[in-house]
Amino acid sequence: MSFSGRIAVVTGGASGIGAACCRLLAARGARVVVADLDTARAQALAAELLGMALTLDVASRDANEAAAAQVEADLGPVDLLVTSAGIIQRPVRAEAMTEAEVEQVVHVDQIGTWNSAVAFGTRMARRGHGAVVTIASIAGMRSMPLHAYSPAKAAVIEMTRCLAAEWGRSGVRVNAVSPGYTLTPALGAAIAAGERDPSLLENSSALGRMVTPEDIAEAVAFLASDAARSITGVNLPVDAGWLVAPSWGAYGGLPPARGNAP
Ligand SMILES: NC(=O)c1ccc[n+]([C@@H]2O[C@H](COP(=O)([O-])OP(=O)(O)OC[C@H]3O[C@@H](n4cnc5c(N)ncnc54)[C@H](O)[C@@H]3O)[C@@H](O)[C@H]2O)c1
Repeated sequence: MSFSGRIAVVTGGASGIGAACCRLLAARGARVVVADLDTARAQALAAELLGMALTLDVASRDANEAAAAQVEADLGPVDLLVTSAGIIQRPVRAEAMTEAEVEQVVHVDQIGTWNSAVAFGTRMARRGHGAVVTIASIAGMRSMPLHAYSPAKAAVIEMTRCLAAEWGRSGVRVNAVSPGYTLTPALGAAIAAGERDPSLLENSSALGRMVTPEDIAEAVAFLASDAARSITGVNLPVDAGWLVAPSWGAYGGLPPARGNAP
């Protein structure tokens, strides 16, 4: 699965899942653009990967349009876009969330993903080829006490389907990856703040562990590659089996490991 000669833009590329995507795509030959609000970290990773750093606030439509134009002018046409820029929220009762908190999450996670996809994807569609991989979440597939984040991620999954249909005849594939609990700086900070319990997160999945950013990057690389040339409009959970496990609670929970059974 080589990306030699391809130009890949990763929003939120300076940290966590986005950084793992940058590293894997670069290792497989892509020229990577690390696009992030955090200029210093984007520059550090871009220098390490011999790529390009771009300061980008995905919440601004104009900034995304300017970024797409700048990358094209500096490097050439973009082949791949990964939209990993995002923020998480603290779990709170619905009535405890302020309108400003809801707006911030929706603006970055939902509208920001839309802004980047449309700015870069429209250019791909005009050229007749390209691939977009959005980073959604298992939170977009089940209810959680994350009253802004969950609906915003559900919207990312549905916008992925809409854009896949919009650009299919123009040769642009659009797919989503929905990570389960992935140990990144964002999740690490939530754990440190006491907003998430790591043992509960681990035990809630069938495999009994969290996901790594590298696990997500492998799925992203597959969907971005020519090996997935007939796949568009899907949402691929990479969740260590989180989606299949909770319903077993009504039957006493998951069976223990068979490893030491006689
Ligand atoms: N970590 C998890 O368990 C998990 C699970 C499901 C989905 N996700 C999603 O994966 C994506 C990456 O999360 P992560 O855990 O790697 O987080 P992270 O905080 O490690 O990385 C996110 C990056 O996005 C950047 N960013 C934030 N707001 C931005 C903006 N407005 N414009 C541009 N860049 C911005 C940050 O500077 C940071 O570098 C997010 O969309 C998140 O919702 C994460």
